[in-house]
Amino acid sequence: MDLREDSRNLTEEVASLASLPAKVDVEASVEKQEKLSKDVYRMTLKAPSIALRSRPGQFVQVGIKQGAALLRRPLGLAEVDTMNGNIVLNYRVLGRGTEALSRLCPEDMVQVLGPLGHGFTVNPAKPLLVGGGMGLSPLLYYAKWLSARKVDVDIMMGGRTAEELFWQKDFAACTKNIYLTTDDGSLGTKGYVTALLPQILTGSNYDRVVVCGPEIMMKNVYEVCKQKLVPCEVSLERRMGCGLGACLSCSIDTLSGRRKVCKDGPVFPAEEVFF
Ligand code: FES
Repeated sequence: MDLREDSRNLTEEVASLASLPAKVDVEASVEKQEKLSKDVYRMTLKAPSIALRSRPGQFVQVGIKQGAALLRRPLGLAEVDTMNGNIVLNYRVLGRGTEALSRLCPEDMVQVLGPLGHGFTVNPAKPLLVGGGMGLSPLLYYAKWLSARKVDVDIMMGGRTAEELFWQKDFAACTKNIYLTTDDGSLGTKGYVTALLPQILTGSNYDRVVVCGPEIMMKNVYEVCKQKLVPCEVSLERRMGCGLGACLSCSIDTLSGRRKVCKDGPVFPAEEVFF
């Protein structure tokens, strides 16, 4: 079965079983705001109706009031706690919108539309996750989700320096093996993830590599997977306007024609993507 079809079916199945629309647009309160590193933040929102519908790899559009306008930013889900109705979003402060998000305090309200898009394959047997930068954020939700379903998950994370790999402690609780690479060799293997990946895949029984990070990393990881005959899926990031498939701002060309990252992705089988 097509990878996207697979995850799409489950999302739609769950939503229809509960007789719920697949996404909602709700007001959510900020529960917690933490600073994880120099410019990366973690925000917890109380949004039970979104938590209930979410799957790993999906994202939400978070809207904050800027004067009379509602400024929306797409953010991948980093964790979902259905018991408490919380969703967790990690983000790097890069501009006006994320700067405004970082100033929010507990009890402030935001508008949240989601969950949006189609997520990761829901039933891998032995996945290797590969991530870098903020791409590690959606992989964290995926690793926790799989681990809760008794799937052994390994993660390979790459960063420029040891400082960028602060995610280790988050992944330690939900993964079996953690492989680290840094460009400067300050932690783990020196070099990019592709310096280590061929040897990790050789003789392994991984049935899937799931990669999320800078596009060049995804492209190079896919090249290694192709050589090693391991299926690979990628989570793409594009500028997004509506998040709903209406504005075409996130369109990409793929082997199967023009697709919208917000609606047809953000997760795609790597072989479909023209990197
Ligand atoms: Fe508007 Fe994708 S963001 S079509």
